[in-house]
Amino acid sequence: GHFNFSTADQLKAFVEAAAELKSPIMVGTSEGEADFVGWEQAAILVRSYQKDGFTVFLNADHHKSWETTKTAIDAGYDTVLIDASKLPYEDNVALTKKIADYARSVNSVITVEGELGYLRGSSEVQEKVEISPSDYTRPEQAQDFVSRTGVDRLAVVFGNIHGIVTEQEEHLDIGALQKIVQAVPGIPLVLHGASGLPAEEIKMAIQNGVANVHINTELRVAYHDTLHEELEKEPQETTPYKYLKPPFEAMKKMIKEKLELFGSPGKI
Ligand code: G3H
Ligand code: ZN
Repeated sequence: GHFNFSTADQLKAFVEAAAELKSPIMVGTSEGEADFVGWEQAAILVRSYQKDGFTVFLNADHHKSWETTKTAIDAGYDTVLIDASKLPYEDNVALTKKIADYARSVNSVITVEGELGYLRGSSEVQEKVEISPSDYTRPEQAQDFVSRTGVDRLAVVFGNIHGIVTEQEEHLDIGALQKIVQAVPGIPLVLHGASGLPAEEIKMAIQNGVANVHINTELRVAYHDTLHEELEKEPQETTPYKYLKPPFEAMKKMIKEKLELFGSPGKI
């Protein structure tokens, strides 16, 4: 499981939830989330949990430029997703390889993820996000991309979108995933945009080779709604650690449900 955070209380909830299930966990900051928390600060916070024995890894999620990804690498992130998927293919290969080479030159244990395919939507509630098979990751291109960039994980598109949609159902194309798996059998595949997907489809994706599942929007909605309810219920309460308790507990509950769904508990 990979979960995005932008506050210290969210991170604490994620780490505690995973530890209670004896599950490893990846936590991530997008460029916007990292800009809010601070790259150095996020890295130091996660490092402090690691020192305390928690199995948690920090990912620079969907970092899109050389500058921001280098900032994350230099800050000590455990892993980065260089997402150059919206660039022309050759530019995606070149930037991903440049990042992978740099990352390994400064950190021998860092891992690097690349992204291929057109992943639509964003981590918020949307009405509709049109997607077509032409957006999917092309198996033969995946093979070429992995061998030329040397990435450790690959983010792929096979029906998934970022965010939740209210006027449409989200579905994965497991047949398309199987073709990608056949093309790059040795590489862990990453399912982005798992918010809003039916639980059975996420399970099918894992059974068919997905190794890492990203959730953001469902967490954002739960945090927002629980906080909103609490502030309405206790309008006079001004102590953050009191009114943030219900959203904190909502985060823990959701992380546990998702890790159970992914089959992650008991792995450490
Ligand atoms: O990288 C982040 C995830 O892919 C989040 O997707 O907002 O649809 O859960 P989501
Ligand atoms: Zn994503």
